[in-house]
Amino acid sequence: MADLHSVASQLVESGRGILAADESVKTMSTRLTAEGIEVSKQARRDYRELLLTAPGLAETITGVILSDETFNDSLADGQPFPQACRDRGLLPGIKVDTGTSPLPKGNGATITEGLDGLGGRLADYAAKGASFAKWRAVIDVQNTSEYARDANAHALARYAALCQDNGIVPVVEPEVMCDGGHDLDACAEVTAATLVAVFDQLDRQRVDPSGMVLKPNMVTPGLKAEQVPAETVASATIQVLSSSVSTDVPGITFLSGGHSNETACDYLGAINDHAGSAPWSLSYSFGRALVSDALHTWHGDPGQTEAAQVALLANCRRASAAGRRRSMASGATN
Ligand code: G3H
Repeated sequence: MADLHSVASQLVESGRGILAADESVKTMSTRLTAEGIEVSKQARRDYRELLLTAPGLAETITGVILSDETFNDSLADGQPFPQACRDRGLLPGIKVDTGTSPLPKGNGATITEGLDGLGGRLADYAAKGASFAKWRAVIDVQNTSEYARDANAHALARYAALCQDNGIVPVVEPEVMCDGGHDLDACAEVTAATLVAVFDQLDRQRVDPSGMVLKPNMVTPGLKAEQVPAETVASATIQVLSSSVSTDVPGITFLSGGHSNETACDYLGAINDHAGSAPWSLSYSFGRALVSDALHTWHGDPGQTEAAQVALLANCRRASAAGRRRSMASGATN
């Protein structure tokens, strides 16, 4: 069975991060439509192939999260996606939750689904080469409650324990949404309460924190609220993480949450500047902040593949530079 700590550490190696290319069929189809690209399985495959085969992607990316459709698909030359990842020096990952549903009696909150049969699915993904998996819980600042946080934390921990039992590193993603007009303090309060609940459940369900990766939001005001300097985001984020996250977790890879590449990278750089003696590697697992420009540039046109890859790599390099700011400042090597 895989050494979970060593795989988790590989995923968060300083200066590199995880590419989230795991949009569900529904979400990916919506994004294709928004770009005026005709929706088809082939279009989704071509787009994911474009991302994965960007030359030198592994210089800034350690692993790629795939959707079930892509994970079980092959490149145009017939090579299965998980093997294509490995051949390029990238660890293959898989999104295993099946999306959110209204939480019963949750007053508008959601619960993430996908636990039924998850052990069997994880065994199958592991046999097909998955090194890590992702599960995203969604917490909305507007309608959160202790009940909603606990229910989602419980499901995240069940997922994480099942992953570890199947030799797969869990990437635990409790996302406090950036949507809305809430201020920084509200985000900090909800993020701290969520992470405390998550680590309580991880502990109760015997998840080894040294064999997992945490994928949280950064602590920011809502996207519709007045924004604050990156340094303010950084100190609030480090404060929240320090009060809630196990020191045994090897690394934290932030999601981008709807922020642009430039903004998300500014925040990540400032977080690394402010990290001091924090015990974790602080890196990225951005989706939109890495891939949106590539999708826009590609536009479904095979003649634009190279230009789209150039756009992706530029965004990955900016994120990687932000991830390296701490090691350059402190000499940290984790
Ligand atoms: O589940 C969300 C993705 O893994 C991260 O996406 O960086 O676009 O928020 P994002």
